[in-house]
Amino acid sequence: MLLCCCLVLVALVPTTLSVNPGVEARLTDKGLEYGRQVGMVIVQQKLKSIKIADISGEQRLGKFGKVKYTLSGTQILNVGLPQSAVNLVPGTGVRLSISNAFISMHGNWRVKYRRVFRDSGSFDLSVNGLTVATTIGIMSDETGRPAVRSLNCGATVGGVNIKFHGGGSWLYNLFRKFIEKSLRNTLQKQICRLVGEAVADLNPRLKTLNVLAKVDKYAEIEYSMVSPPVVSKSSIDLGLKGEFYNIGRHQEPPFSPAPFSLPLQTSNMLYIGLSAFTANSAAFVYNTAGALSMYITDDMIPQSSPFRLNTRTFRAVIPQIAKRFPGLMIKLLVKTVKTPVITFTPDNVTVQTTTTVTAYAIQPNATLSPLFVLNLDSSVSGKMTVSGMQLAGHVTLNKINLSLVTSYVGDFQVKPLSNIFQLVVKAVVIPIANVELAKGYPLPTIGKMKLVNPQLKVLKDYMLIGTDVQFTN
Ligand SMILES: *[C@@H]1O[C@H](CO)[C@@H](O)[C@H](O)[C@H]1NC(C)=O
Ligand SMILES: *[C@@H]1O[C@H](CO)[C@@H](O)[C@H](O)[C@H]1NC(C)=O
Ligand SMILES: *[C@@H]1O[C@H](CO)[C@@H](O)[C@H](O)[C@H]1NC(C)=O
Repeated sequence: MLLCCCLVLVALVPTTLSVNPGVEARLTDKGLEYGRQVGMVIVQQKLKSIKIADISGEQRLGKFGKVKYTLSGTQILNVGLPQSAVNLVPGTGVRLSISNAFISMHGNWRVKYRRVFRDSGSFDLSVNGLTVATTIGIMSDETGRPAVRSLNCGATVGGVNIKFHGGGSWLYNLFRKFIEKSLRNTLQKQICRLVGEAVADLNPRLKTLNVLAKVDKYAEIEYSMVSPPVVSKSSIDLGLKGEFYNIGRHQEPPFSPAPFSLPLQTSNMLYIGLSAFTANSAAFVYNTAGALSMYITDDMIPQSSPFRLNTRTFRAVIPQIAKRFPGLMIKLLVKTVKTPVITFTPDNVTVQTTTTVTAYAIQPNATLSPLFVLNLDSSVSGKMTVSGMQLAGHVTLNKINLSLVTSYVGDFQVKPLSNIFQLVVKAVVIPIANVELAKGYPLPTIGKMKLVNPQLKVLKDYMLIGTDVQFTN
């Protein structure tokens, strides 16, 4: 018994310690309503594929004996679904209700009485007052993508109306009852099967969720769901991992997502909350990959700059340099020494970066002679924008702080070098970073999804994108 309890507890541990999502996506009632419109087109297409098998039978006709009849080649002409509604079923999914639906068909009839009499013609058939109700369960599949399944379904046919063309009206009364009963049965059975298929047909679309979205040669973002969808009274919430990884090597950063919850907003179809964790996991990946370092040479310094990257520039502050390395160009190596820290506060994205700057004199034989190593802390402000299905960024420099780490050319004051390095960061490093940030990072997306009028707001510890969506096939 005790062992049993222990096993149960052990089994429960992974779920109770489940990871917080880095990204949360919320589909609102408005989004669900758009989903209904898209879905009804699919259901209508499906119902048009109803197959009515030939109906045949015999009917005793007074003392003369049996009349054989056949209805064949019944084709669906039209399916009308004028009324439908979707409602959230908390804890389960959504309920789709279709009412007052109608189906019109056309076919041929034939009767035969021994060798004495035969007749044939066509008929028009309409089925009305059709209702269909199904509960659609929303869950996650084994790849961390959402999946749907029709959990139950009921269909009822209101009225069946047949109009025969050709022949006499006595025929109508002869087999009307049989036809109606037979049609009712076949339709009620087929409608639920087809609605179930229409629901299942959504799964290949849902499987297009980019659970692993490639960013560039270094990074990919994982968007798989970390827990099953949460269906509440007012929304469907998906908790996505939202974590950057080195391509092919999924190393966890030494920090994890903090829980966050989206505000109660309903004016858009979809809300996506991207946590500071997601941004910081990107910083971790690029830093670990060694992507956050660069050499800066004089040709990268704008022509308009008041100084060039040579030993003469440093003459006033560090006379040793000009003395020992006269007339040489200088090369800088800027390199992060730890993962940059990204902070989201209302309307403000800040990136704190700690780098070292190593300055080298370039000897005529191309040998690099180290001059000094500085510590350069910088703070930049970021502005994020949504462009297509991508999130792009742009940063501007707030401030830098220099301190000396090592000097190979004697002691010197760092402060007077501030202007030089401020310009190097502003005119060289930041523009290069902005070229990269402008390339964008893929947002979670399903199929050919377009964001309509997306708005982005930075809140405490996460960014919120509110948007409408549009699917194009
Ligand atoms: C953003 O916040 C940082 C500190 O976190 C601050 O230094 C900076 O001035 C702020 N920027 C804006 C535009 O408010
Ligand atoms: C390159 O030139 C420097 C300075 O003249 C010298 O100290 C160094 O040994 C030279 N290196 C090579 C590989 O020639
Ligand atoms: C600049 O950096 C040094 C060394 O890291 C630190 O002691 C100092 O407080 C910093 N100054 C500012 C203004 O942040």
